[in-house]
Amino acid sequence: MDKIIIRGGKRLAGRIPVSGAKNAALTLLPCALLTDEPLTLRNLPRLADIDGFQHLLNQFGVSTAIAGARPEDFGRVMTLQATRITSSVAPYDLVRKMRASILVLAPMLARMGEAKVSLPGGCAIGNRPIDLHLKALEALGATIELAAGYVRAIAPDGGLPGGRYSFPVVSVGATENALMAAVTARGKSTLHNAAREPEIVDLCRMLVAMGAEIEGIGTSDLVIHGVSRLHGATYQVMPDRIEAGSYACAAAITGGEVTLAGARIEEMEATVQALRDIGLHVEPRPEGLHVAADGPLRPVTLETAPYPGFATDMQAQLMALLCLAQGTSVLTETIFENRYMHVPELNRMGAHIETKGRVAIVHGVPKLTGAEVMATDLRASMSLVIAGLAAEGETQVHRLYHLDRGYERLEEKLALVGAEIERVGGD
Ligand code: EPZ
Repeated sequence: MDKIIIRGGKRLAGRIPVSGAKNAALTLLPCALLTDEPLTLRNLPRLADIDGFQHLLNQFGVSTAIAGARPEDFGRVMTLQATRITSSVAPYDLVRKMRASILVLAPMLARMGEAKVSLPGGCAIGNRPIDLHLKALEALGATIELAAGYVRAIAPDGGLPGGRYSFPVVSVGATENALMAAVTARGKSTLHNAAREPEIVDLCRMLVAMGAEIEGIGTSDLVIHGVSRLHGATYQVMPDRIEAGSYACAAAITGGEVTLAGARIEEMEATVQALRDIGLHVEPRPEGLHVAADGPLRPVTLETAPYPGFATDMQAQLMALLCLAQGTSVLTETIFENRYMHVPELNRMGAHIETKGRVAIVHGVPKLTGAEVMATDLRASMSLVIAGLAAEGETQVHRLYHLDRGYERLEEKLALVGAEIERVGGD
């Protein structure tokens, strides 16, 4: 099993290229099912989750070709073509490894008239239900059956009629599945309280490039006029705002500065505001977002919320930074029920964090000390890396498969800006 060894205390400075967004790519990839023409995605990040999704699509008979990727390049170009679907079943052994597989449900249903996907089950950060995905598809005219650990969705003869659904809770994935079902429905669909994350906007933009008709893009009220077919497209995946925010925290905790090449400040306003409240200097530059330490770190009080609120996917990384603030911060995780597994590991590094249900109280400490720590989920593992970059001595982060799901060539990117970090295998 690989592990990462970090010798902390090095001030980071320089430029980090931001990769394509994992959470955009994972909803753009299944759209290949919506047409028999080629779909070419540029700036796809090289991540375990992307490889997993490619493998799942191959199971359905979708051809995938990687182009133009030199080993030293970040990202790559993939052309997908679903000329003929050979299976409409997403099996348990693939879905259990990657929850985002549920995002094939709607496009497969739209294309084939039915789809069968293993229930994804929970994960470390929560039980991750899919009830809103299913209710939205039923509202658009699908029949849903649950049996033997699978969900089966069936469209009426002639395809989904479309319909209206108001989400009781904002759900990124359920909004994405509803959009992918509605774009080729026979009639008009209306989604209220839809998620507004930039990754949803990226999905809408690509669907429009494929011939879809969508109104209200970027708002929580979407109107989709179904079209009879979609055509292929070439589309550039948006930059990863969570990766960018993560590296901003990494530079900041070392008292350094970094230019996040490709990052778009307009997609990161809540994160930027939090970094500025902490006392960092943050400014947009032609090449990307420049973040620089500017004096002592200040404590903050904030809670996670659906976009445009502060992203739950940034909570663990910001918490690591706040461990060294001069004062007490209070974080409230409102989205997932178990997203504080980084806390015990940070406390083993000398942090002083107390959790009470959804609230974490981060008492700033003067320093952190390197330790052997265990990653438990994707963003928790990044918070341990961030802490290790500032900790005195050596930190070893185990179970890197969590990290590799969401951070492309992390140790290479951090080494670009002066981190003393290496990946070693086989322990
Ligand atoms: C997406 O997950 C992201 N994953 C998550 O990123 C992110 O944390 C989350 O959105 C929130 O921003 C991908 O895009 C692949 P939700 P998703 O549906 O779609 C409840 C990362 O670290 N809910 O918006 O699964 C759910 O339990 C990952 O990159 C239902 O109750 O999140 C949660 O409390 C982690 N029923 C809340 O809604 C449902 O049917 C938000 O979940 C669906 C969700």
